[in-house]
Amino acid sequence: MSTPKTVVLTGDRPTGALHLGHYVGSLQTRLLLQESHQQYVMIADMQALTDNGHQPHKVAGNILEVMADYLAVGLDPQKTHFCLQSSLPALAELTLFYMNVVSVSRVERNPTVKNEIRQKQFGRNIPAGFLMYPISQAADITAFGASCIPVGEDQLPMIEQTNEIVRKINGLFDADILTPCKALLSHTGRLPGIDGSAKMSKSMGNTLTFSASEEDIHLAVKAMYTDPMHLKVSDPGQVEGNVVFSWLDALHPDKKEVERMKQCYRQGGLGDMVCKRALEEQLHTLITPIRARRQALINDKAYLMSILHEGTRVAQDVTAQTVVAVKRGFGLPVFE
Ligand code: TRP
Repeated sequence: MSTPKTVVLTGDRPTGALHLGHYVGSLQTRLLLQESHQQYVMIADMQALTDNGHQPHKVAGNILEVMADYLAVGLDPQKTHFCLQSSLPALAELTLFYMNVVSVSRVERNPTVKNEIRQKQFGRNIPAGFLMYPISQAADITAFGASCIPVGEDQLPMIEQTNEIVRKINGLFDADILTPCKALLSHTGRLPGIDGSAKMSKSMGNTLTFSASEEDIHLAVKAMYTDPMHLKVSDPGQVEGNVVFSWLDALHPDKKEVERMKQCYRQGGLGDMVCKRALEEQLHTLITPIRARRQALINDKAYLMSILHEGTRVAQDVTAQTVVAVKRGFGLPVFE
């Protein structure tokens, strides 16, 4: 008998199309994991609504955009189950159970949530759902029995909080009802924005999406932040904090070539134009086929919807089983 594959879960808030930052930080990892793991990829529309309750169309309208991105980059419905959070009632049920074992002060202490509350200037008007979203994320992870969660650094507090809930629930019933999880940190790290800021986001206009045209790519690379002190080609330049090199590091397949360019740039003698041209070429190679696939997919919404529906059905069965186990743990009757 073959041993069951490790379950891995990732999620994205559908508040816009995915972009190159997602590709480097996460989608590439998912492409690998679908070959070896039982992979679920969830469109986290409920979580997206926790801070978009006043503009729900922004969430609903982006679900299929994200689905098109997934398939266009090569995630394969034969290997990955795609699912929609709002159609998984088990996640909402588990959230309600877990809310009873987590204090308000604990959720308020979550550094990612703390940061977001400050940035969004919620004050006391914070939506109750937003404050609770780490608990809902713990519900997502445990519902699938996922033990491996590929995430960026900002998501580590969510994993910690999930494991706290796992320990509490399992401890309460002295049984291994829930599965503990581990974060799988992306080794490529974060891709900086075109303007040099650490965060890349569509709202800041400092990224490239998979529908970027040749012209968009050209203009983005042209505008890209380099070393402001590197005025003449012969001047020695700085590679650290230079977005062109960060992107080359992440995207150029020939690492030796990138090292050679860096050395030359540091010494002086390599111009920004040459580096930018090399990057632009890599971006065209990467994005052109993805853009074409994406275009065809977005014109077939019925197909995208059917893939999401199919995966959601599988996820409904899996997650419902966890609710049954938790209800039994709490000593509640289960009516099926
Ligand atoms: N919080 C994640 C993000 O903003 C999205 C997410 C929701 C998620 N549920 C998840 C990620 C479960 C991993 C596992 O990117």
